[in-house]
Amino acid sequence: MKIGIGNDHSALELKAEITDFLKEKGHEVVDYGTDSPESCDYPVYGEIVARAVASGEADQGILICGTGLGISLAANKVKGIRAAVCSEPFTAKMARAHNNCNILAFGARVVGAELAKMIVETWLNTEFEGGRHQRRVDMIMAVEDRKE
Ligand code: RB5
Repeated sequence: MKIGIGNDHSALELKAEITDFLKEKGHEVVDYGTDSPESCDYPVYGEIVARAVASGEADQGILICGTGLGISLAANKVKGIRAAVCSEPFTAKMARAHNNCNILAFGARVVGAELAKMIVETWLNTEFEGGRHQRRVDMIMAVEDRKE
C-alpha cells in the first residue's frame, strides 16, 4: 500500500519510527514533511496529505501532531477525507471497519511508539465492512455537498 505521512515539529521522532515500521511491513511511504524541528503550522501538513489521499496519489494517510487533533481537523476539511484520531487499537479498528476512514491521526504527545505501531497495524489490517455502514458513510460525505 502507498501511504502518505505528514506531521508537525512535535512528531519527528515518532514519524521516523512509524515510517521504518511501515517499510518493514512492505508498504511504500511518501513523506510530506515536515522534516524540521522548527515550530511549524500543522494545518499545512494535514492539508497536503489529505489532498494526496483524496486525489489517489496515496492509498491512505497517517498524520501526527502533538495530539492528532489539529492536523486531523485540517485534513477533514478536504473533500473526500475521513480522518480519525485514534489513541488505541479498538478505535482504529472501528474507524476502518465502520467509518471507512482514509486517514489515521494520532498524537506524539499522547501515545508512545509501541502503542502507535499497534494502532497502525490494526488500522492497516482492518477492512471496511460495507453494508449498513456504507449508507452511513455516504450520509457523512453528503454533508460536504450541503456546505454553505
Ligand atoms: C503544537 O504545539 C500543537 O499545538 C500541535 O502539535 C497539535 O497538538 C495541535 O493539535
